[in-house]
Amino acid sequence: MPDSAVLGHDAPAEQAAPDAAVFVALYTGHVLRAGLRLGLPDALGDEPASAAELADRMGLDPRALRRLLRALVALGFLDRTADGRYAHTPRSQLVRADDEFGRSLAAFATNPAVEQAWHGLAESVRTGRGPFAAHHGTDFYTYLSGDDGLSTAFRTAMRAGEEWIASSEIEALAQYASGTVVDVGGNRGALLRELLMCAPRARGILFDLASVVDDPDPELRSGALADRCELVAGDARESAPAGADLYVLRAVLHNWDDETAVRILTNCARAGRPGARVAVIEMVLPEEATPSPMAAVSDLDMFVLFGSGERTESEFVELFRRAGLDYAGSRPASGLTHLMECRIPS
Ligand SMILES: C[S@@+](CC[C@H](N)C(=O)[O-])C[C@H]1O[C@@H](n2cnc3c(N)ncnc32)[C@H](O)[C@@H]1O
Repeated sequence: MPDSAVLGHDAPAEQAAPDAAVFVALYTGHVLRAGLRLGLPDALGDEPASAAELADRMGLDPRALRRLLRALVALGFLDRTADGRYAHTPRSQLVRADDEFGRSLAAFATNPAVEQAWHGLAESVRTGRGPFAAHHGTDFYTYLSGDDGLSTAFRTAMRAGEEWIASSEIEALAQYASGTVVDVGGNRGALLRELLMCAPRARGILFDLASVVDDPDPELRSGALADRCELVAGDARESAPAGADLYVLRAVLHNWDDETAVRILTNCARAGRPGARVAVIEMVLPEEATPSPMAAVSDLDMFVLFGSGERTESEFVELFRRAGLDYAGSRPASGLTHLMECRIPS
């Protein structure tokens, strides 16, 4: 017998449950951020642990922690064992301290200055001005020099990210790597290191901001590659090292608006010898189709931080044209990136 009959009133009319996905999505970021701020991914070791054990280990309120853990399980971030203990999933493993790449990206994304910028997204969609500069009153790279926390988070994420080079990217570049190769905005030089190892006759120039080239990959400063590599500090918006045969720009142009990106490319076009190549490695958005969630979020991330964005191939081709470069075509360089090849006119 249904309960309603026992209680003496009619059962409510059958009602379709609302699709909760949108509400869950709105709250998911709060839940993940709380877990990260508390250091849960590290407190939970390789062995599953109960809520009480974790609360004890972390000095937290056991009932409140149980709720957070339950939500993290429901959202697919943690697992729960048959005996009710909590365990890592591949997702939560990604943001443990021993995974430098995932952890540093999470630390960067949850940095207060970055979060404040994301809070300004709606207003920036109204104005078209990137939220980071609108909120902090200066551009991202200038701001970095005055915020040690953000600077460390960004540099750690970049350092971990640059070591995450697909071998297919190096293979694609290696065929052009003869003579002198300049890595423009090459960070600490991980890509240049791999490229010089693949191309034993090539010489390299690592070109980045002074604060970055001051602390290069040890192989480039004093290791086996040091005699084939020069470290040059400078501003790619002003100039590029002269006379090279290949200029590589990997994940650089997406940090800049069109005017600045054209200026950087023009500086390479003027600096290189006639016939030299400019190789641009970037994520490329589809012209019409909906991008993957990763590409769409990365595009907005570039807008939030730099007032720029990811681009379609035709948008890149227009930048190359404006910089006076001859576009020779593109090919996939990794699962996420394309290599676009340009020539400096002879
Ligand atoms: C997103 S990171 C990409 C780093 C590296 N190319 C890679 O693929 O991992 C952008 C790089 O551009 C550098 N950069 C920023 N402003 C610059 C400027 N004005 N001139 C030269 N490099 C700059 C940053 O220091 C950083 O290393």
